[in-house]
Amino acid sequence: MKVGVDLGERRYDVVIEAGARRRLKTLIEAHAPGAKSVALVTSASLAAQPWFDLDSGLDQFVALVPEGESAKTVGALGELVETLAAARLSRDDVVVGVGGGAVTDLAGFAAASYLRGVGLINVPTTLVGQVDAAIGGKTGVNLAAGKNLLGAFYQPLGVLCDAEVLATLSDRERRSGLGEVAKCWLLEGRRAEDLATVALESLIAVSVELKARLVAGDEREGGARALLNYGHTLAHAMEKVALARDPDELRHGEAVAVGLAFAARLARDLARVGDEVVDEHDAVLDALGLARRLSDSYDIDELIEAMRHDKKARHDLRFVLAGPGGFSLVGDVDETVVRTALARFKGGQ
Ligand SMILES: NC(=O)c1ccc[n+]([C@@H]2O[C@H](COP(=O)([O-])OP(=O)(O)OC[C@H]3O[C@@H](n4cnc5c(N)ncnc54)[C@H](O)[C@@H]3O)[C@@H](O)[C@H]2O)c1
Repeated sequence: MKVGVDLGERRYDVVIEAGARRRLKTLIEAHAPGAKSVALVTSASLAAQPWFDLDSGLDQFVALVPEGESAKTVGALGELVETLAAARLSRDDVVVGVGGGAVTDLAGFAAASYLRGVGLINVPTTLVGQVDAAIGGKTGVNLAAGKNLLGAFYQPLGVLCDAEVLATLSDRERRSGLGEVAKCWLLEGRRAEDLATVALESLIAVSVELKARLVAGDEREGGARALLNYGHTLAHAMEKVALARDPDELRHGEAVAVGLAFAARLARDLARVGDEVVDEHDAVLDALGLARRLSDSYDIDELIEAMRHDKKARHDLRFVLAGPGGFSLVGDVDETVVRTALARFKGGQ
């Protein structure tokens, strides 16, 4: 199936189907008819996967970038754009990001800035990439001061979400993606009971449709797009605390799952929703096999401090919360309420 991201002249499709990567050639013919050369940006471990058989039908070369998050550095960006320049990639040519969110964020920013912008196509190979990172135009790299601090909004010409490439994904990376899927499922008001019969491709489609709709209405995150941060206030704080202990301790989606369970409890404590909403959140997370307890290792003071300094906060405590009229971004949440809710949540309630 195809989901359109409706951004006027920059409208593009996200194709979700087994074998979607084989559409690369036709996608380039349709959207970059002047292209003669194609840079496939990926990491060495991904280039060695059995599914790495991309064929653009043009002169193509592989530009290797570091593995995982280490691709998202200014140094890796510099090397990548030098490689594109050395290969004489021109304005009409195309960069294809083939990888998880780390690779597509880097490839996207390189495409946005090299020659002030060349064509970009994303072939996301993680679940996080397929439901989130490769769609919506946020590209960039990390700085020493923090994640994603250098970047640009730059939309691709198309996105190819191929379920076949997910076959080689580790369980942990799959779970991380399911955290974002759970977020979308809950934001869409879908029920836990329907998860029993749904195929992975449909789960991806529900998530992509939501993101496409929110991005089309709010490309630069002034309003509705912020709802995609559901569960992320606590998740980002947990990631910050966990990262300082061990970079491998926590995957983003694992943190989002806990953040979603907490957001439902906080909404209940603020009398915005009843117990049934908390129960439904728990049921969705359980059905997707996601852990939703806040481990004892997190210190509440540290989490509150991190939440206040989140990039998206304004020194207040702000959460996307369920409410009688649906989900909304709520700022200035009373610290005492958050503290009490966190203490009870940590205690397993
Ligand atoms: N731009 C956005 O809107 C957006 C949204 C969400 C996340 N992100 C970014 O995405 C990054 C996280 O992305 P991620 O979770 O995809 O992680 P990742 O890109 O770091 O990939 C995780 C690991 O999976 C491996 N991998 C990728 N595809 C595989 C496959 N098919 N088979 C086997 N192994 C595979 C990678 O090599 C890597 O080791 C973060 O940097 C985050 O900031 C961006």
